[in-house]
Amino acid sequence: MVVLLSGLRYVARSGLPKCMGGRPHRNITSLPSHYTLPSGDKIPSVALGVWRAGPNEVGEAVKTALKAGYRHIDGAWIYRNEAEVGQALKDSGVPREDVWITSKLWNTFHAPEDIEPALDDSLTKLGTDYLDLYLIHWPLAKKDGQPYDKNLTENPYPTWQKLEELVEKGKVRNIGVSNFNIRRLQNLTANPLKFKPAVNQVEISYWFPQPELLKWSKENNLLLEAYSPLGSEGKVKDTLNVPEVKEIAKELGITPAQVVISWHVQRGTVVLPKSVTPSRVVENYQVRALPPALFEKLEEAATSHKPYPRLNPSKGWGIDFDIFD
Ligand SMILES: NC(=O)c1ccc[n+]([C@@H]2O[C@H](COP(=O)([O-])OP(=O)(O)OC[C@H]3O[C@@H](n4cnc5c(N)ncnc54)[C@H](OP(=O)(O)O)[C@@H]3O)[C@@H](O)[C@H]2O)c1
Repeated sequence: MVVLLSGLRYVARSGLPKCMGGRPHRNITSLPSHYTLPSGDKIPSVALGVWRAGPNEVGEAVKTALKAGYRHIDGAWIYRNEAEVGQALKDSGVPREDVWITSKLWNTFHAPEDIEPALDDSLTKLGTDYLDLYLIHWPLAKKDGQPYDKNLTENPYPTWQKLEELVEKGKVRNIGVSNFNIRRLQNLTANPLKFKPAVNQVEISYWFPQPELLKWSKENNLLLEAYSPLGSEGKVKDTLNVPEVKEIAKELGITPAQVVISWHVQRGTVVLPKSVTPSRVVENYQVRALPPALFEKLEEAATSHKPYPRLNPSKGWGIDFDIFD
């Protein structure tokens, strides 16, 4: 554990979490509340994800989350809800500098000249003049109705250089990638980068725990962010019914979702559970360290079945390669 999480800032509180307590702080027993990025910025370890959080519900979810103590919202231009998220951030009264806001550059905007206008659109909608983190959403440069740009997809260095410029301009504090495999990360970082990717946001769940990528990322000082951490819509029920998850929940007196979210943080990743249900938003923020034997039991169960990834939009995008190859 010490080795796993070395370099991280810890918050230690004693006692078991009050599930669903809704208090404006998190009960954490020796789990990191933040990770420190190469820039020195501290990224909160638990975020509210807002993909598929629809109109007239995402704003309430953000306000509920901020009241419950979240200080990290994981959004994207393509989620088409940035204006409502921005309004909720404003209405919450929580100072801008206290909230970590992530957005993502969509596939259609990878050409250097398209990046700043896309970022500006996100900034305007979110009602802020900077992002804490801006990610290349997918390793694919493709405008609507056109074939993909092979060169820019294989070597997104021109895209990255523009992002670096936006860091220097102060519009973005940290830059990173999402859905990049090791080969793509190595290709990108073989370029003479001013700023290395600060994070890689990827699918990680009980069904697709990605232990090799996690190990490689730790060895290379790259923080992973776990998306679809509960298995995503359609698989959440199965996740919460995994026998080991249920047993650990019972033993610790916490909910199955709290077991899974805690496990993610304990593995050393940022975790991005999405919910628009107020009680679940509160529940998901209450993480705690699992005792080592229980953590290992869940890790063993998650990594010993056949990996089962959920998200692969390659076919839907009509590209002639697998986005994860
Ligand atoms: N970079 C990428 O390409 C990418 C891709 C996918 C996701 N993401 C990010 O990751 C976030 C999370 O991923 P996701 O939405 O796919 O999956 P998820 O967080 O694993 O699952 C969300 C589903 O779980 C339900 N849920 C949440 N908490 C629950 C609880 N305590 N008990 C029971 N059900 C619960 C939600 O329902 P309700 O909302 O109805 O409560 C929703 O149906 C996204 O919002 C987004 O920010 C990024």
